[in-house]
Amino acid sequence: MSAADIIEEVTASGLRGRGGAGFPTGIKWKTVSEATGPQKYIVCNADEGDSGTFADRMIMEGDPFCLIEGMAIAGLATGSTRGFVYIRSEYPDAIKVMARATVIARAEGVLGADVMGSGKAFDLEIRVGAGAYVCGEETSLLNSLEGKRGVVRAKPPLPALEGFMGRPTVVNNVLSLATIPVIFEKGAAHYASFGLGRSKGTMPVQIAGNVARGGLFETAFGMPLGELVNEIAGGTATGRPVKAVQVGGPLGAYMPPSKFDTPFAYEEFDGQGGLIGHAGVVVFDDSADMVQMARFAMEFCAVESCGKCTPCRIGAVRGVETIDRIAAGDTTAIPLLTDLCETMKDGSLCALGGFTPYPVMSALQNFPDEFGATPATQAAE
Ligand SMILES: Cc1cc2nc3c(=O)[nH]c(=O)nc-3n(C[C@H](O)[C@H](O)[C@H](O)COP(=O)(O)O)c2cc1C
Ligand code: SF4
Repeated sequence: MSAADIIEEVTASGLRGRGGAGFPTGIKWKTVSEATGPQKYIVCNADEGDSGTFADRMIMEGDPFCLIEGMAIAGLATGSTRGFVYIRSEYPDAIKVMARATVIARAEGVLGADVMGSGKAFDLEIRVGAGAYVCGEETSLLNSLEGKRGVVRAKPPLPALEGFMGRPTVVNNVLSLATIPVIFEKGAAHYASFGLGRSKGTMPVQIAGNVARGGLFETAFGMPLGELVNEIAGGTATGRPVKAVQVGGPLGAYMPPSKFDTPFAYEEFDGQGGLIGHAGVVVFDDSADMVQMARFAMEFCAVESCGKCTPCRIGAVRGVETIDRIAAGDTTAIPLLTDLCETMKDGSLCALGGFTPYPVMSALQNFPDEFGATPATQAAE
């Protein structure tokens, strides 16, 4: 297939990035293919830092060739001859398996100077991160890959135009790239026939936390959240009622059971003030302390912040202090917390600071009693 045909097929499949933002993969590839430069790159984001997630690890350990094949196809489609898989250091088995699989793929002609007789070159290297959540953010990852401190870069320029070493670069999640072979095996129309609305295809949902049956469950987009939690995961391990479910990692909203009819899909979660992110679902029973959960979100942001912008670097620290005031009974701090969350949401450079308000505000809005919020304090919000 020509490069243009490959990109058209990926676009027609409706595949959206599985790393969190849900950006259409075909459009990203087209941007890189049309960009000019002496060298282009494919970077696989295998930093997988979201709480409760392990789908990238399972693919790399269990079916590494699927990912390698997806990266090689991305290379042929965009004119990129070099690739990197950036794997978090906490995944020693995945690093080992991927390194070995790369050697085998090279010996079999899937990687190298003439990929499967196409006359085009593509090869890849494994790189290991050093344990920072923010290095999963694509521009921070690129800095880390270049040997620099993992600080977020302002966009524009987009990595697709000026990415690794300032060259056009595709940055895709493991799951996005590992989905590519099945799209070409079964056809874009087959893949697009699964899902709901603009959320096409399937998603490996990773269910963790206080559940009877944790694990990975791949399903077409559209299954209601409640069905995932109560039927697939069998409710809580403790047998107590579910109080909240955090979907989409540490920056995801806490969804109460009243929102369990929300279909698992990008736009539908967005409409409920949530996000599906990398499809991590972490379940909590009714013993969870929502004020402390909100505090944890701010504390996590303060610890993991790259420090580049003020709303996140300073805001998260002030957030912890403000929630401590609320926990001590000072409800006058509630409007302050809301105001701070607005500032972080609107003023942060990347989604670490920008999305931390989601777990905080969802805890406050869905469980106001625990914050001591009266109708008056909520009105002040
Ligand atoms: C703080 C932060 C952490 C992130 N961590 C990851 C990650 O671990 N893995 C990942 O694929 N994407 C992560 N992302 C999203 C990436 O920035 C980027 O959108 C993604 O790698 C693009 O690939 P995709 O289009 O295939 O999803 C993170 C984003 C932010 C803001
Ligand atoms: S929001 Fe936080 S992590 Fe993102 S650029 Fe700003 S300081 Fe860095």
